[in-house]
Amino acid sequence: MSARMFPVPGRHKGRVYVITGGAQGIGRACAERFAAEGARVMIADIDPAGAEVAEAVGGAFTRTDMSDPEQVRGLAEAAVAHFGRIDIWHNNAFAAVFKPIHEQTLEEFDTITGVGIRGYWMGAKVAVEQMRAQGGKGVILNTASVQSFVGEKGFSAYQATKGAVLALTRSLAIDHAPDIRAVALAPGLIATDAIKGIPEDVMQGVLADIPAGRAAEPAEVAALAAFIASDEADYMSGTAVILDGAYLAIG
Ligand SMILES: NC(=O)c1ccc[n+]([C@@H]2O[C@H](COP(=O)([O-])OP(=O)(O)OC[C@H]3O[C@@H](n4cnc5c(N)ncnc54)[C@H](O)[C@@H]3O)[C@@H](O)[C@H]2O)c1
Repeated sequence: MSARMFPVPGRHKGRVYVITGGAQGIGRACAERFAAEGARVMIADIDPAGAEVAEAVGGAFTRTDMSDPEQVRGLAEAAVAHFGRIDIWHNNAFAAVFKPIHEQTLEEFDTITGVGIRGYWMGAKVAVEQMRAQGGKGVILNTASVQSFVGEKGFSAYQATKGAVLALTRSLAIDHAPDIRAVALAPGLIATDAIKGIPEDVMQGVLADIPAGRAAEPAEVAALAAFIASDEADYMSGTAVILDGAYLAIG
């Protein structure tokens, strides 16, 4: 990793942070970062391994399939039962089968959008309901992607979800300002299991298009998420923050 990490002690002290897809990758790094900054962390994932992450960060785990609206509601209820409130809700889980549309099945489309659109919308809905009931401020983070802005070959349904994430973020920000902020976080290439399947020769081509010449570590995304959710970023809402090693700058 080229970047050095400096968690800000106490920046999220006492806040309740719900992270979906927290069992590994970016979600896990975010769970670790927010816990290091004092948050009480509720991890949601379809993978029971999320329980180990919860134990490691002193948080709690609720096994949740984000494509099932009842389970998403159950996640919010579990967070409130456990910690009493929800201050930051981070939609981050994704299920993807990367294919062009002529090779993709409708079932795969439903799985991908079930998590990446319906799951994000339902997560935002239960978060907003709870934040309004608390009568206080709140932040909704939505993990988007550079593919929210540019096309890449072979990602039809996934790219549709990432475009939708931006539109949802704008809508949330407008409807609930100034109490609730909504911000999309758009990573470029991040070194998680999600990119492990990319063949070495393809990866060399991908890296050649990234001026930074490397994938970022999940902890670098987490550092940005912790800033976006902080009071210092109180004027930031309805927008997307890109972390891509200048990938989009090439055009
Ligand atoms: N890794 C990258 O290069 C990259 C780039 C841009 C955007 N992103 C975005 O970052 C986010 C996290 O990606 P990652 O790279 O950490 O992926 P990852 O595969 O490492 O982690 C995804 C997590 O989501 C969980 N998940 C899958 N289906 C679920 C469901 N139905 N309900 C609940 N949890 C479910 C998985 O179990 C896993 O723990 C995603 O939204 C992804 O689109 C990643």
